[in-house]
Amino acid sequence: MSISFKTLDELDLTGKRVLLRADLNVPVADGKVTDATRIERLVPTIREIVKKDGKVILLSHFGRPKGQVNPEFSLEQVCSAVAQQTGHPVGFVATDWIDVSAAQAAIDEAPAGSVLVMENTRFHPGEEANDVELARRMASLGDVYVNNAFSAAHRAHASTEALAHLLPAAAGLAMQAELEALESGLGKPKKPVVAIVGGAKVSSKIDLLENLVTKVDGLVIGGGMANTFLFAQGYGVGKSLCEKDLADTARRIMDKADKANCAIILPIDAVVSWHLKANSPTRLYGVDAIDPDGMILDIGPSSIERINAAIDDAHTVVWNGPVGAFEMQPFDAGTVAIAKHVAKRTHDDLLVSVAGGGDTVGALAHAGVKDKLSYVSTAGGAFLEWMEGKPLPGVEALKK
Ligand code: 3PG
Ligand code: MG
Repeated sequence: MSISFKTLDELDLTGKRVLLRADLNVPVADGKVTDATRIERLVPTIREIVKKDGKVILLSHFGRPKGQVNPEFSLEQVCSAVAQQTGHPVGFVATDWIDVSAAQAAIDEAPAGSVLVMENTRFHPGEEANDVELARRMASLGDVYVNNAFSAAHRAHASTEALAHLLPAAAGLAMQAELEALESGLGKPKKPVVAIVGGAKVSSKIDLLENLVTKVDGLVIGGGMANTFLFAQGYGVGKSLCEKDLADTARRIMDKADKANCAIILPIDAVVSWHLKANSPTRLYGVDAIDPDGMILDIGPSSIERINAAIDDAHTVVWNGPVGAFEMQPFDAGTVAIAKHVAKRTHDDLLVSVAGGGDTVGALAHAGVKDKLSYVSTAGGAFLEWMEGKPLPGVEALKK
Protein backbone atom coordinates (compact mmCIF):
# COMPACT_ATOMS: atom_id res chain seq x y z
CA MET A 1 0.00 0.00 0.00
CA SER A 2 1.05 3.57 -0.30
CA ILE A 3 1.90 4.49 3.27
CA SER A 4 1.03 8.13 3.71
CA PHE A 5 1.69 8.23 7.44
CA LYS A 6 4.92 8.15 9.39
CA THR A 7 5.91 4.79 10.84
CA LEU A 8 7.65 4.04 14.13
CA ASP A 9 11.06 3.49 12.50
CA GLU A 10 10.96 7.03 11.14
CA LEU A 11 10.93 8.53 14.66
CA ASP A 12 14.02 8.97 16.80
CA LEU A 13 13.00 7.12 19.98
CA THR A 14 16.38 6.86 21.67
CA GLY A 15 16.12 8.16 25.21
CA LYS A 16 12.90 9.98 24.34
CA ARG A 17 9.73 10.42 26.36
CA VAL A 18 7.25 8.69 24.03
CA LEU A 19 3.55 9.51 24.43
CA LEU A 20 1.94 6.29 23.22
CA ARG A 21 -1.80 6.66 22.56
CA ALA A 22 -3.20 3.22 23.22
CA ASP A 23 -6.70 1.86 23.53
CA LEU A 24 -6.78 0.57 27.11
CA ASN A 25 -10.56 0.70 26.97
CA VAL A 26 -10.67 -3.03 27.68
CA PRO A 27 -13.48 -5.03 29.30
CA VAL A 28 -13.05 -5.21 33.09
CA ALA A 29 -15.16 -7.26 35.51
CA ASP A 30 -14.55 -7.35 39.28
CA GLY A 31 -11.37 -5.31 38.84
CA LYS A 32 -9.91 -7.81 36.33
CA VAL A 33 -9.33 -7.40 32.61
CA THR A 34 -11.45 -10.09 30.93
CA ASP A 35 -10.12 -9.71 27.38
CA ALA A 36 -6.55 -8.44 26.96
CA THR A 37 -6.44 -8.55 23.14
CA ARG A 38 -6.06 -4.78 22.83
CA ILE A 39 -3.20 -4.82 25.34
CA GLU A 40 -1.52 -7.81 23.66
CA ARG A 41 -1.34 -5.88 20.41
CA LEU A 42 0.53 -3.02 22.10
CA VAL A 43 3.41 -5.18 23.22
CA PRO A 44 5.67 -5.00 20.12
CA THR A 45 5.53 -1.19 20.07
CA ILE A 46 6.25 -0.96 23.81
CA ARG A 47 9.21 -3.36 23.42
CA GLU A 48 10.60 -1.31 20.55
CA ILE A 49 10.53 1.91 22.61
CA VAL A 50 12.00 0.22 25.71
CA LYS A 51 14.76 -1.32 23.56
CA LYS A 52 15.77 2.20 22.59
CA ASP A 53 15.79 3.37 26.23
CA GLY A 54 12.72 5.48 25.62
CA LYS A 55 10.13 6.07 28.32
CA VAL A 56 6.73 4.67 27.36
CA ILE A 57 3.97 6.99 28.55
CA LEU A 58 0.65 5.35 27.78
CA LEU A 59 -2.28 7.67 27.12
CA SER A 60 -5.79 6.28 26.87
CA HIS A 61 -9.42 6.79 27.66
CA PHE A 62 -11.36 4.23 29.67
CA GLY A 63 -15.14 4.08 29.52
CA ARG A 64 -17.21 7.25 29.37
CA PRO A 65 -16.62 9.32 32.56
CA LYS A 66 -17.99 12.41 30.81
CA GLY A 67 -15.11 14.78 31.56
CA GLN A 68 -15.10 14.17 35.32
CA VAL A 69 -12.56 12.57 37.62
CA ASN A 70 -14.22 9.31 38.66
CA PRO A 71 -12.27 6.50 40.40
CA GLU A 72 -14.61 3.93 38.88
CA PHE A 73 -13.00 4.75 35.52
CA SER A 74 -9.41 4.99 36.72
CA LEU A 75 -6.84 3.42 34.42
CA GLU A 76 -4.94 2.25 37.49
CA GLN A 77 -7.04 -0.92 37.30
CA VAL A 78 -5.51 -2.01 33.99
CA CYS A 79 -1.85 -1.48 35.00
CA SER A 80 -1.35 -5.05 36.22
CA ALA A 81 -2.72 -6.42 32.94
CA VAL A 82 -0.31 -4.18 31.00
CA ALA A 83 2.55 -5.42 33.22
CA GLN A 84 1.51 -9.02 32.68
CA GLN A 85 1.27 -8.69 28.89
CA THR A 86 4.54 -6.77 28.48
CA GLY A 87 6.48 -8.66 31.15
CA HIS A 88 7.67 -5.26 32.34
CA PRO A 89 6.92 -3.36 35.55
CA VAL A 90 4.34 -0.65 34.98
CA GLY A 91 3.99 2.59 36.92
CA PHE A 92 0.78 4.58 37.23
CA VAL A 93 0.75 8.39 36.97
CA ALA A 94 -2.29 10.03 38.56
CA THR A 95 -3.44 13.39 37.22
CA ASP A 96 -6.63 15.44 36.90
CA TRP A 97 -5.27 16.79 33.59
CA ILE A 98 -5.73 20.35 34.91
CA ASP A 99 -2.32 20.63 36.53
CA VAL A 100 0.23 18.21 35.09
CA SER A 101 3.31 19.43 36.98
CA ALA A 102 3.35 16.45 39.37
CA ALA A 103 2.91 14.08 36.44
CA GLN A 104 5.78 15.81 34.66
CA ALA A 105 8.03 15.33 37.71
CA ALA A 106 7.04 11.64 38.01
CA ILE A 107 7.91 11.07 34.35
CA ASP A 108 11.24 12.88 34.70
CA GLU A 109 12.15 10.77 37.72
CA ALA A 110 11.31 7.46 36.05
CA PRO A 111 14.41 5.71 34.67
CA ALA A 112 14.97 5.20 30.95
CA GLY A 113 12.97 2.24 29.61
CA SER A 114 10.11 2.74 32.09
CA VAL A 115 6.52 1.92 31.17
CA LEU A 116 3.98 4.33 32.67
CA VAL A 117 0.20 4.49 32.39
CA MET A 118 -1.31 7.97 32.65
CA GLU A 119 -4.72 8.51 34.24
CA ASN A 120 -7.82 8.39 31.98
CA THR A 121 -7.67 11.20 29.42
CA ARG A 122 -11.48 11.51 29.61
CA PHE A 123 -11.24 12.78 33.21
CA HIS A 124 -10.95 16.24 31.59
CA PRO A 125 -13.72 17.60 29.32
CA GLY A 126 -11.04 18.95 26.96
CA GLU A 127 -10.32 15.40 25.77
CA GLU A 128 -13.61 14.90 23.94
CA ALA A 129 -13.69 18.58 22.92
CA ASN A 130 -10.34 18.10 21.13
CA ASP A 131 -9.11 21.05 23.19
CA VAL A 132 -5.71 22.38 22.13
CA GLU A 133 -4.89 23.65 25.64
CA LEU A 134 -5.28 20.15 27.04
CA ALA A 135 -3.31 18.73 24.11
CA ARG A 136 -0.49 21.20 24.93
CA ARG A 137 -0.45 19.97 28.52
CA MET A 138 -0.22 16.40 27.21
CA ALA A 139 2.54 17.41 24.78
CA SER A 140 4.55 18.90 27.67
CA LEU A 141 4.91 15.36 29.06
CA GLY A 142 6.64 13.91 26.00
CA ASP A 143 9.10 14.44 23.16
CA VAL A 144 7.35 12.39 20.48
CA TYR A 145 3.85 11.00 19.88
CA VAL A 146 2.94 7.53 18.66
CA ASN A 147 -0.65 6.49 18.01
CA ASN A 148 -1.42 2.80 18.30
CA ALA A 149 -5.15 3.12 18.92
CA PHE A 150 -6.96 2.47 15.64
CA SER A 151 -10.08 1.63 17.65
CA ALA A 152 -10.22 5.22 18.95
CA ALA A 153 -9.25 6.82 15.62
CA HIS A 154 -12.86 7.72 14.74
CA ARG A 155 -12.80 10.17 17.66
CA ALA A 156 -11.33 13.64 17.10
CA HIS A 157 -10.19 13.97 20.70
CA ALA A 158 -7.24 15.82 22.24
CA SER A 159 -5.16 12.66 22.66
CA THR A 160 -5.99 11.26 19.22
CA GLU A 161 -6.12 14.39 17.07
CA ALA A 162 -4.89 17.75 18.46
CA LEU A 163 -1.86 16.18 20.14
CA ALA A 164 -0.67 14.60 16.89
CA HIS A 165 -0.06 18.09 15.48
CA LEU A 166 2.06 19.26 18.43
CA LEU A 167 4.90 16.72 18.43
CA PRO A 168 6.73 14.59 15.87
CA ALA A 169 4.09 11.89 15.30
CA ALA A 170 3.93 8.37 13.89
CA ALA A 171 1.71 5.30 13.77
CA GLY A 172 2.64 2.51 16.17
CA LEU A 173 3.20 -1.03 14.92
CA ALA A 174 -0.36 -2.17 15.71
CA MET A 175 -1.88 0.88 14.01
CA GLN A 176 0.34 0.28 10.98
CA ALA A 177 -0.61 -3.41 10.78
CA GLU A 178 -4.28 -2.51 11.09
CA LEU A 179 -4.16 0.14 8.37
CA GLU A 180 -2.30 -2.21 6.04
CA ALA A 181 -4.81 -5.02 6.68
CA LEU A 182 -7.74 -2.67 6.06
CA GLU A 183 -6.14 -1.44 2.88
CA SER A 184 -5.99 -5.04 1.63
CA GLY A 185 -9.66 -5.47 2.60
CA LEU A 186 -11.28 -2.52 0.85
CA GLY A 187 -8.63 0.00 -0.21
CA LYS A 188 -6.80 -2.00 -2.85
CA PRO A 189 -8.29 -5.48 -2.48
CA LYS A 190 -7.72 -8.49 -4.65
CA LYS A 191 -11.02 -8.84 -6.51
CA PRO A 192 -13.66 -10.22 -6.43
CA VAL A 193 -14.56 -8.85 -3.00
CA VAL A 194 -17.48 -10.13 -0.96
CA ALA A 195 -18.69 -8.25 2.11
CA ILE A 196 -20.73 -10.01 4.78
CA VAL A 197 -22.84 -7.67 6.87
CA GLY A 198 -25.04 -8.91 9.68
CA GLY A 199 -26.38 -7.67 12.96
CA ALA A 200 -29.78 -6.60 14.13
CA LYS A 201 -30.60 -3.33 12.45
CA VAL A 202 -30.39 -1.72 9.03
CA SER A 203 -30.77 1.68 10.71
CA SER A 204 -27.29 1.49 12.29
CA LYS A 205 -25.64 0.42 9.03
CA ILE A 206 -27.22 2.47 6.24
CA ASP A 207 -24.03 4.44 5.45
CA LEU A 208 -22.00 1.28 5.56
CA LEU A 209 -24.28 -0.57 3.12
CA GLU A 210 -24.43 2.43 0.77
CA ASN A 211 -20.64 2.61 0.67
CA LEU A 212 -20.10 -1.12 0.30
CA VAL A 213 -22.38 -1.61 -2.71
CA THR A 214 -20.15 0.76 -4.70
CA LYS A 215 -16.98 -1.10 -3.70
CA VAL A 216 -17.65 -4.81 -3.52
CA ASP A 217 -18.76 -7.42 -6.03
CA GLY A 218 -21.07 -9.27 -3.66
CA LEU A 219 -22.83 -8.17 -0.49
CA VAL A 220 -24.15 -10.87 1.82
CA ILE A 221 -26.80 -9.53 4.18
CA GLY A 222 -27.69 -11.63 7.22
CA GLY A 223 -28.93 -11.29 10.77
CA GLY A 224 -31.99 -9.28 11.76
CA MET A 225 -31.25 -6.68 9.12
CA ALA A 226 -31.82 -9.22 6.33
CA ASN A 227 -35.49 -9.39 7.41
CA THR A 228 -35.95 -5.74 6.49
CA PHE A 229 -34.60 -6.47 3.00
CA LEU A 230 -36.81 -9.56 2.63
CA PHE A 231 -39.82 -7.51 3.76
CA ALA A 232 -38.89 -4.79 1.25
CA GLN A 233 -39.02 -7.45 -1.46
CA GLY A 234 -42.54 -8.40 -0.45
CA TYR A 235 -41.85 -11.45 1.72
CA GLY A 236 -43.67 -12.01 5.01
CA VAL A 237 -41.28 -12.15 7.94
CA GLY A 238 -43.77 -13.12 10.67
CA LYS A 239 -42.82 -11.81 14.10
CA SER A 240 -39.14 -11.41 13.19
CA LEU A 241 -37.13 -8.33 14.01
CA CYS A 242 -37.79 -6.02 11.07
CA GLU A 243 -37.58 -2.25 10.52
CA LYS A 244 -40.60 -1.91 8.26
CA ASP A 245 -40.19 1.86 8.02
CA LEU A 246 -36.83 1.26 6.32
CA ALA A 247 -38.26 -0.75 3.42
CA ASP A 248 -37.68 2.22 1.06
CA THR A 249 -34.10 2.56 2.26
CA ALA A 250 -33.55 -1.14 1.67
CA ARG A 251 -34.99 -0.85 -1.86
CA ARG A 252 -32.77 2.18 -2.55
CA ILE A 253 -29.69 0.22 -1.44
CA MET A 254 -30.70 -2.72 -3.66
CA ASP A 255 -31.15 -0.35 -6.65
CA LYS A 256 -27.78 1.24 -6.02
CA ALA A 257 -26.19 -2.21 -5.81
CA ASP A 258 -27.81 -3.20 -9.07
CA LYS A 259 -26.43 -0.12 -10.86
CA ALA A 260 -22.96 -0.74 -9.40
CA ASN A 261 -22.99 -4.42 -10.43
CA CYS A 262 -22.91 -5.57 -6.84
CA ALA A 263 -24.84 -8.80 -6.24
CA ILE A 264 -26.93 -8.70 -3.08
CA ILE A 265 -27.09 -12.11 -1.46
CA LEU A 266 -30.03 -12.51 0.91
CA PRO A 267 -31.10 -15.62 2.83
CA ILE A 268 -33.24 -18.10 0.88
CA ASP A 269 -34.19 -20.21 3.86
CA ALA A 270 -34.38 -19.52 7.57
CA VAL A 271 -34.39 -21.22 10.94
CA VAL A 272 -37.56 -20.07 12.67
CA SER A 273 -38.55 -20.33 16.31
CA TRP A 274 -41.49 -19.09 18.33
CA HIS A 275 -39.43 -18.05 21.37
CA LEU A 276 -36.27 -15.99 21.60
CA LYS A 277 -34.68 -18.57 23.89
CA ALA A 278 -31.77 -20.98 23.63
CA ASN A 279 -32.74 -24.49 22.54
CA SER A 280 -36.36 -23.57 21.82
CA PRO A 281 -38.04 -25.70 19.11
CA THR A 282 -37.20 -24.65 15.55
CA ARG A 283 -38.38 -25.30 12.05
CA LEU A 284 -36.83 -24.57 8.69
CA TYR A 285 -38.77 -22.46 6.17
CA GLY A 286 -38.12 -21.05 2.74
CA VAL A 287 -38.17 -17.25 2.96
CA ASP A 288 -41.32 -17.25 0.81
CA ALA A 289 -43.25 -19.24 3.43
CA ILE A 290 -42.23 -17.96 6.89
CA ASP A 291 -44.79 -18.85 9.58
CA PRO A 292 -46.69 -15.64 10.46
CA ASP A 293 -46.25 -16.39 14.19
CA GLY A 294 -42.58 -17.33 13.97
CA MET A 295 -39.31 -15.43 14.27
CA ILE A 296 -36.34 -15.81 11.93
CA LEU A 297 -33.32 -16.43 14.18
CA ASP A 298 -30.72 -17.85 11.79
CA ILE A 299 -30.09 -18.53 8.13
CA GLY A 300 -30.84 -22.04 6.87
CA PRO A 301 -28.58 -24.65 5.20
CA SER A 302 -29.39 -23.57 1.61
CA SER A 303 -28.42 -19.99 2.51
CA ILE A 304 -25.17 -21.22 4.07
CA GLU A 305 -24.42 -23.16 0.90
CA ARG A 306 -25.11 -20.12 -1.25
CA ILE A 307 -22.98 -17.78 0.90
CA ASN A 308 -20.12 -20.27 1.02
CA ALA A 309 -20.26 -20.56 -2.78
CA ALA A 310 -19.99 -16.76 -3.03
CA ILE A 311 -16.98 -16.92 -0.69
CA ASP A 312 -15.44 -19.58 -2.95
CA ASP A 313 -15.65 -17.15 -5.86
CA ALA A 314 -14.05 -14.31 -3.87
CA HIS A 315 -10.43 -13.43 -3.26
CA THR A 316 -11.24 -11.01 -0.46
CA VAL A 317 -13.89 -11.12 2.27
CA VAL A 318 -14.72 -8.24 4.60
CA TRP A 319 -17.02 -9.15 7.49
CA ASN A 320 -19.00 -7.22 10.07
CA GLY A 321 -21.86 -8.66 12.08
CA PRO A 322 -23.19 -12.17 12.77
CA VAL A 323 -25.80 -13.65 10.40
CA GLY A 324 -28.00 -15.10 13.17
CA ALA A 325 -28.67 -14.83 16.90
CA PHE A 326 -25.31 -16.51 17.51
CA GLU A 327 -25.32 -15.95 21.28
CA MET A 328 -28.00 -18.66 21.56
CA GLN A 329 -27.80 -22.22 20.38
CA PRO A 330 -28.81 -23.50 17.89
CA PHE A 331 -29.04 -20.06 16.22
CA ASP A 332 -25.24 -19.84 16.04
CA ALA A 333 -25.07 -22.51 13.31
CA GLY A 334 -25.12 -20.20 10.27
CA THR A 335 -22.51 -17.80 11.64
CA VAL A 336 -20.26 -20.66 12.78
CA ALA A 337 -20.50 -22.48 9.41
CA ILE A 338 -19.57 -19.34 7.46
CA ALA A 339 -16.79 -18.43 9.88
CA LYS A 340 -15.24 -21.88 9.54
CA HIS A 341 -15.49 -21.70 5.76
CA VAL A 342 -13.81 -18.27 5.65
CA ALA A 343 -11.09 -19.57 7.98
CA LYS A 344 -10.46 -22.64 5.80
CA ARG A 345 -10.23 -20.66 2.55
CA THR A 346 -7.87 -18.23 4.31
CA HIS A 347 -5.75 -21.08 5.64
CA ASP A 348 -5.55 -22.58 2.12
CA ASP A 349 -4.24 -19.22 0.86
CA LEU A 350 -7.26 -18.73 -1.36
CA LEU A 351 -8.71 -15.78 0.49
CA VAL A 352 -7.77 -12.55 2.23
CA SER A 353 -10.22 -12.14 5.12
CA VAL A 354 -10.69 -9.05 7.27
CA ALA A 355 -13.29 -8.88 10.04
CA GLY A 356 -14.10 -6.43 12.79
CA GLY A 357 -16.66 -5.01 15.17
CA GLY A 358 -17.51 -6.08 18.72
CA ASP A 359 -20.07 -8.81 18.01
CA THR A 360 -18.08 -10.10 15.08
CA VAL A 361 -14.98 -10.79 17.15
CA GLY A 362 -17.17 -12.55 19.72
CA ALA A 363 -18.80 -14.64 16.99
CA LEU A 364 -15.44 -15.61 15.47
CA ALA A 365 -14.12 -16.55 18.91
CA HIS A 366 -17.26 -18.64 19.49
CA ALA A 367 -16.59 -20.42 16.16
CA GLY A 368 -12.99 -21.02 17.26
CA VAL A 369 -11.49 -19.13 14.33
CA LYS A 370 -10.61 -15.72 15.81
CA ASP A 371 -6.93 -16.25 14.99
CA LYS A 372 -7.54 -17.92 11.63
CA LEU A 373 -8.53 -14.97 9.49
CA SER A 374 -6.00 -12.71 7.75
CA TYR A 375 -6.87 -9.90 10.15
CA VAL A 376 -9.39 -9.40 12.93
CA SER A 377 -9.81 -5.84 14.12
CA THR A 378 -10.58 -5.19 17.78
CA ALA A 379 -12.19 -1.89 16.82
CA GLY A 380 -15.93 -1.36 17.05
CA GLY A 381 -17.02 2.10 15.94
CA ALA A 382 -13.78 2.85 14.11
CA PHE A 383 -14.10 -0.34 12.04
CA LEU A 384 -17.67 0.59 11.07
CA GLU A 385 -16.67 4.14 10.08
CA TRP A 386 -13.84 2.71 8.03
CA MET A 387 -16.34 0.39 6.29
CA GLU A 388 -18.51 3.46 5.70
CA GLY A 389 -15.58 4.98 3.81
CA LYS A 390 -15.27 7.90 6.24
CA PRO A 391 -11.93 9.53 7.02
CA LEU A 392 -10.85 8.77 10.59
CA PRO A 393 -9.53 11.87 12.40
CA GLY A 394 -6.92 9.90 14.37
CA VAL A 395 -5.49 8.49 11.15
CA GLU A 396 -5.78 11.73 9.17
CA ALA A 397 -3.76 13.54 11.87
CA LEU A 398 -0.84 11.16 11.30
CA LYS A 399 -0.62 11.87 7.58
CA LYS A 400 2.65 13.27 6.35
C1 3PG B 1 -14.10 1.39 21.73
O1 3PG B 1 -14.04 0.64 22.69
O2 3PG B 1 -14.87 1.23 20.77
C2 3PG B 1 -13.15 2.55 21.69
O3 3PG B 1 -12.29 2.48 22.77
C3 3PG B 1 -13.89 3.86 21.62
O4 3PG B 1 -14.65 4.04 22.76
P1 3PG B 1 -15.84 5.11 22.72
O5 3PG B 1 -16.91 4.48 21.86
O6 3PG B 1 -16.27 5.31 24.15
O7 3PG B 1 -15.30 6.36 22.09
MG1 MG C 1 -17.36 2.02 21.20
